[in-house]
Amino acid sequence: MKKSSKLAGVTALLLLTACATVITAPDLAHNAAQDLMDFKASFNEKGIAKVDRLNQSELQNNCSDYAQKEMPAELRAQLEKTELDAVKFPADGQFLGNWKEGEKIAQNGRGLQFSDDAKTVNGGNCYACHQISKAEIAFGNIGPSLSEYGKLRGGPSEDLMKYTWTKLFSSHAYNACSVMPRYGAAQILSEQQMKDVMALLLDPKSPINQ
Ligand code: HEC
Repeated sequence: MKKSSKLAGVTALLLLTACATVITAPDLAHNAAQDLMDFKASFNEKGIAKVDRLNQSELQNNCSDYAQKEMPAELRAQLEKTELDAVKFPADGQFLGNWKEGEKIAQNGRGLQFSDDAKTVNGGNCYACHQISKAEIAFGNIGPSLSEYGKLRGGPSEDLMKYTWTKLFSSHAYNACSVMPRYGAAQILSEQQMKDVMALLLDPKSPINQ
């Protein structure tokens, strides 16, 4: 008799514990904040890769909030305008560098990783997401194919050069929550490297436009 009442007590305690973990609607916001803290705590700093990389910009924060639902058009337009206004065009007005260097940059996925040192020159890793030169058969397809990019758009007009530079500088300027890296805004590529990649895409002599 004594034994069974003790057992009942244990069962009641277990039930109570179970009730305490039921998530109610007002708790959800708290849980999201807690989840973020747990997520951050599960990362270790290693080499040049510091945990502050997990801190979101205002834009990224907004994109996370609207990941599962449509972002209001007004907010989207405002985020894109902020990115667009911050684009820096080449100081000397020249958009096109050397396509041969551009191909190397597009192929290069090194830089900014924990195993790289701070002096590693960053690549663009464009092939991770795009087809570019037809000679390269290893490419990802998260982004659209860029082969014949300049040729299909009628050659390197001023408008096309400005559009492409802007897309490279901050992909969010035309698509608020784009997954494409912000090569200029996040200082991943230098101005010269961006010019070289531009030449790969737009120079009529570049093999991708043949
Ligand atoms: C993580 C994937 C990813 C990487 C890496 C990436 N891109 Fe993109 N890119 C995209 C996606 C996705 C789009 C289309 C949707 C959008 O705008 O976000 C795109 C769009 C573009 C466009 C516009 C195409 C058009 O028809 O208007 C250009 C130009 C471009 N990328 C060039 C590059 C270059 C050059 C590099 C390397 C320096 C690069 N991208 C690296 C994902 C990527």
